Amino acid sequence: MTESNFGYEKINDKEHSSRVRDVFNKVANKYDFMNDVMSLGMQRLWKKTFINNIKSHTSEDLNVVDLAGGTGDIGFRFLKKFPKNNFVNIVDINQEMLKEGEKISSTINLSEKCNFICSQGESISLADSYADILTISFGIRNVSNREKCLEECFRILKPGGIFMCMEFSLPNDILLRNLYDAWSYGLIPKFGKLIVGEEEPYKYLVDSIRTFPSPEEFNDMIMDAGFKKTTIKQLSGNIVCIYRAEKI
Ligand SMILES: C[S@@+](CC[C@H](N)C(=O)[O-])C[C@H]1O[C@@H](n2cnc3c(N)ncnc32)[C@H](O)[C@@H]1O
Repeated sequence: MTESNFGYEKINDKEHSSRVRDVFNKVANKYDFMNDVMSLGMQRLWKKTFINNIKSHTSEDLNVVDLAGGTGDIGFRFLKKFPKNNFVNIVDINQEMLKEGEKISSTINLSEKCNFICSQGESISLADSYADILTISFGIRNVSNREKCLEECFRILKPGGIFMCMEFSLPNDILLRNLYDAWSYGLIPKFGKLIVGEEEPYKYLVDSIRTFPSPEEFNDMIMDAGFKKTTIKQLSGNIVCIYRAEKI
């Protein structure tokens, strides 16, 4: 069995999956609110930019998969921007996150246009060449076997399909990096304790950003999975990167 980083700790993939599931079980009911707190509201802007960068040749009759979709935020944003005859499958390993998403989908009248699937990113329960677009936002860094997950993304996309991934990175500028470290190590776990009653899941989330590959390394992994036409867009001084690629 392969090993992966849980924060700075190296553990086997089975234990990794179960500990990641535990992290998101603990935060599910306050997940969206905490995202706003941790990012000082910037997550909304990043997600808007992410959706704007999808650039598909058509905006209707699309099968979309939002992998590691959690409470469905990206899927809902997609459906609001492209309302015509599109269907989104929100796929996640964590049933608690999906349950929150299902509740939200009915309050915003989108339950007819989406489906919630509990499945692992390393073995997605969808057919080959099913999807026109696959999104994964702030999810890939939590996946135990990223290579396998990228291969699965490639498998379920149609030829011509678009892969879009957004993930945290680290600021290049030294001043911004110092501020970012002070904020993320000093304050985020404290907010976690105050708002969710848990500090540990937020320590993991902060550490996992530090152990994620550099944008160039991750871009190579995307290409190794078979994708072409890869691009990287850096946001907010490289705090976040958007990766776009195509299955030719
Ligand atoms: C930080 S949340 C991101 C949620 C949402 N995409 C967003 O942008 O707000 C990460 C999600 O990845 C999910 N996840 C972690 N490992 C996974 C795996 N191996 N397969 C599928 N989902 C996974 C977690 O359950 C969690 O819901």
